[in-house]
Amino acid sequence: MTRRPDGIRGVTITGTGMYVPERVLTNHDLAKLVDTSDEWIVERTGIRERRIAAPDQASSDLALVACQRALDMAQVQARDIDHIIVATTTPDRILPSCACTLQQKLGASRAAAYDMFAACTGFIFGLGLGRGLIGSGLTENVLVVGVETLSRIVDYTDRNTCVLFGDGAGAAVLQACENGVGLHAIDMHSDGELGEVLEVPAGISSNPASDRTVAGREHFIRMQGKKLFPFAVRNMKRATQLCAEAAGWSPAEIDLFIPHQANLRIIDAVREQLELPEDRVYVNIERFGNTSSASIPIALDECVRAGKLKPGDKLAMAAFGGGATWGASTMTWTVPLERARRAAGARGTVHETVS
Ligand code: ACO
Repeated sequence: MTRRPDGIRGVTITGTGMYVPERVLTNHDLAKLVDTSDEWIVERTGIRERRIAAPDQASSDLALVACQRALDMAQVQARDIDHIIVATTTPDRILPSCACTLQQKLGASRAAAYDMFAACTGFIFGLGLGRGLIGSGLTENVLVVGVETLSRIVDYTDRNTCVLFGDGAGAAVLQACENGVGLHAIDMHSDGELGEVLEVPAGISSNPASDRTVAGREHFIRMQGKKLFPFAVRNMKRATQLCAEAAGWSPAEIDLFIPHQANLRIIDAVREQLELPEDRVYVNIERFGNTSSASIPIALDECVRAGKLKPGDKLAMAAFGGGATWGASTMTWTVPLERARRAAGARGTVHETVS
């Protein structure tokens, strides 16, 4: 658990943005590919549809739009960004990093840019790192991005996984703020013992690409969903409780809880254990499925632009994912409603997409 020690600067989110590709893949579409049904998917996961990147869209293209929207809300120029942290499991390429490609597309020429691999918890980990960089006084403006083109590593012959995942991007600008508001606590954990529960077996140094790995479909996601389920509930709940305690709140005081959107039943179980009413937990899984590291920043941007967060609100976010990784964050929201509304007006509604 990393708390804010005395003597370091306050850090907050000053702008958010999201982007999802135009193409919608419904449960009915999937039922034509594998032995599944809309009823099964809705009942077991809560998902109705997900977005799929166009063939010429790479992760950096999705991230670019989300970042431009976040910078616009924060009223920060790309050239003033000091660090770009891209949380992803699906970079454009392994070399160069997705973040370097994004830096070039964005024109953020001063920024140090690098990728972070923490699966679905990547955005929370990115917030932790960004807070450290700004809080210590080393930097002023950090862009934290969660982006995925999971459709490129999903096996559309495997019904256990292909119904779950979707593509999208979300971003947040971090800057210094007065102490007492902004980010209060960030809880970050990893347990490599659980690595094989969610994996892409082939790819780089331990099992390089070959005819055998391609024939064996080893470049796609494999998951033991049943093992992940209780792990996710237990750890998202615990991490959120720890971060609430560190902020001096009881969980009941949380105004808005944004959980990683992996499965509606997981979200409901965490909500019940934290004793939060339904209207304080944000859910958009029915429209986007599990977009891994993009899931929380997409949901956050939807909330911000819809006016669900106002300065002073107590916000908690929690995630779990492959690695295994998990974590949470608590913050007192600071973006003025007027600024969020102006950004939403300038860029269209939250449901708008750019082709
Ligand atoms: N359609 C129809 N039947 C299916 C499907 C499908 N899409 N998928 C599985 N089934 C079948 C199974 O084969 C099984 O059949 P069987 O009883 O004949 O063997 C039956 O449905 C029940 O399967 P379970 O795995 O027990 O189903 P469960 O209720 O656990 O739901 C699920 C599966 C949705 C994967 C759930 O376990 C889950 O959400 N787990 C967490 C997964 C997760 O969050 N992963 C993302 C991690 S985040 C990241 O880092 C990317």
